[in-house]
Amino acid sequence: MSDQFGSGNPLTTTGEHNMSNTAERKAVVQEPGATPDKSWVIVTRGLKREYDMGGEIVRALRGVDLAIRRNEYVAIMGPSGSGKSTLMNLVGCLDTPTAGEYWLNGMLVSTMTDDQLARVRNKEIGFVFQTFNLLPRATALHNVELPLVYAGIGSDERKRKAKQALEKVQLEHRMTHKPNELSGGQRQRVAIARALVNDPSILLADEPTGNLDSQTSTEIMKVFEDLATSGQTVIMVTHEADIAAHARRVVVLRDGIIASDDRRSAFKEQMGLV
Ligand SMILES: Nc1ncnc2c1ncn2[C@@H]1O[C@H](COP(=O)(O)OP(=O)(O)OP(=O)(O)O)[C@@H](O)[C@H]1O
Ligand SMILES: [Mg+2]
Repeated sequence: MSDQFGSGNPLTTTGEHNMSNTAERKAVVQEPGATPDKSWVIVTRGLKREYDMGGEIVRALRGVDLAIRRNEYVAIMGPSGSGKSTLMNLVGCLDTPTAGEYWLNGMLVSTMTDDQLARVRNKEIGFVFQTFNLLPRATALHNVELPLVYAGIGSDERKRKAKQALEKVQLEHRMTHKPNELSGGQRQRVAIARALVNDPSILLADEPTGNLDSQTSTEIMKVFEDLATSGQTVIMVTHEADIAAHARRVVVLRDGIIASDDRRSAFKEQMGLV
């Protein structure tokens, strides 16, 4: 870990604390640790999520320490049930942890109320789901405008920004189409445009190609890759190794903990690390 993060390891909560000791970790989880440096868009320390299923406790996440810098492109992999979606929902501010810390852009979000969380989510997070989640009766343009409606932005500004987002995914010529008048790949492009319209700090995608054929998946991966190249921070859950190969870092979850976390040589080269 220390090689990867260098001396400013954000997963170490204070200078003196070493998180390897369980008793120490408990102590720092109760009292939040040091605020991570601004270059870290995401820092989780000892993140846990447990579900109480009428007495039986399901430990979906058992202590995840993860730090992601701005402009990283990270794939999250792991077997079914390993906690990938649970982690994405926490990182996406759709859910709150049972224990541990989550810092987003230097803000401690793990202790926020639902209202605060909703505000942070609207401003900082763009989410893309496997099932697109578009409004069936609304045009592509209106679907993309929706997050701006919630943010209280006026109609002209909304349309301008929504068009810009649709241009980013090369779909401006299908603006007036409703979802059932679009192909699967085009629907996912609309969903990506909607996720981008607020200029989020992070773009999260949970198996975004899970409902697409292989050729369309390749097209959608190209969209994510172009966004990552242009500086968008992207975190993507995928089952497929060839899709993960596009990312510059691959985090593998197993039984609710990180089993491996590898930066790819392409990323190292780009950052001048090799
Ligand atoms: N709302 C919930 N209530 C109870 N248990 C849950 C809930 N959501 C997830 N779990 C459990 O938590 C564990 C992790 O689930 P999660 O959905 O995060 O897995 P995943 O890695 O995304 O799997 P998949 O690849 O199948 O999507 C599983 O054992 C699951 O049954
Ligand atoms: Mg899942």
